[in-house]
Amino acid sequence: MTYSRIVGMGRYLPERVMTNFDLEKIVDTTDEWIRTRTGVERRHVVEEDQTTSDMCVESAKSAMDDAGVTPADVDMVITGTTSPDVVFPNVSTIIQHRLGIPACPAFSLEAACSGFIYALTVADKFIKAGEAKCVLVTGAECITKLLDWGDRNTCVLFGDGAGSAIVVPSAEPGILSCELGADGQYRELLHYPVGVSKNLAAAGTDEANIIMQGNEVFKVAVKTLGRIAQAALDKAGVTKEELDWLVPHQANIRIIQAMAKRLNMPMEKVIVTVQDHGNTSAASVPMALDVGRRDGRIKEGQLILMEAFGGGFTWGSVLMRM
Ligand code: ACO
Repeated sequence: MTYSRIVGMGRYLPERVMTNFDLEKIVDTTDEWIRTRTGVERRHVVEEDQTTSDMCVESAKSAMDDAGVTPADVDMVITGTTSPDVVFPNVSTIIQHRLGIPACPAFSLEAACSGFIYALTVADKFIKAGEAKCVLVTGAECITKLLDWGDRNTCVLFGDGAGSAIVVPSAEPGILSCELGADGQYRELLHYPVGVSKNLAAAGTDEANIIMQGNEVFKVAVKTLGRIAQAALDKAGVTKEELDWLVPHQANIRIIQAMAKRLNMPMEKVIVTVQDHGNTSAASVPMALDVGRRDGRIKEGQLILMEAFGGGFTWGSVLMRM
């Protein structure tokens, strides 16, 4: 049996940092409120002329270096993002061209904060089917460009970033199970109401902002993530006691703590980065995995559960050996 395996990771955060104290100067909020309700201390924000693909190129270079592969080795590019540079060409083709990756399938997929988990799952299927040998998978988001900096309900939560993985076939696991899902009935709880075929004229107006019923999102997120974490474990015949690490979507420290509790995992076994960059949507899981690997906490052979939940709602989890 062929498995797919992550053999390199990279991440990129924009240089510009906005702390909670910076936000205190522009909206009616406090560092104390943001830290206690969300765990966020600072976020990174792209410059006006910086794009999602700019961040992806940097995180992809770092992942390729880490894996010891060159652009010529890559034969598929998948990017999870809801904040692409332009409508088309898709972000993956821009990355492909800028890195000099030879002609190959290159596409983006849109699953909000679950974008990386969805993209990684697709890569896993192509590799298992024998149709890809080296996939560049990225989760990236310029989500601050969607924010209304006057809305304290949302602007304190999010930040920009990109995280990439190189995924290759392997005789040894690797990815053990993937579990994806979505339920469109919850769209009103978390959405961005301006797009191409709907409300395009509202782009750039006050209507163009993330709309979220935070406490409702919170409840569904915790319930759903608990269920799919268990489903991913059951599918692979693994118990939660065997897990070495939880690498969760970094939306809110309280959601992360609730998940750890459901899995009976002490917080020492959870990679937490939300304090450093807020909710970076599709970028959050790969960036957290990269942090844990590079600082030596996550070691080869260890059992990792990654999970994410986002607008749609969409959700997903991947269980793998590093
Ligand atoms: N500063 C100060 N006060 C604020 C702020 C702020 N930035 N934002 C809201 N408040 C106020 C509210 O107005 C409200 O005031 P009121 O009681 O006078 O009406 C009060 O704080 C409490 O508001 P709640 O919404 O009940 O606060 P809650 O404890 O639920 O925390 C939060 C809000 C942080 C948004 C939380 O609900 C949450 O994290 N939900 C999940 C959101 C999430 O994870 N979204 C993303 C997941 S999907 C994705 O990643 C795209």
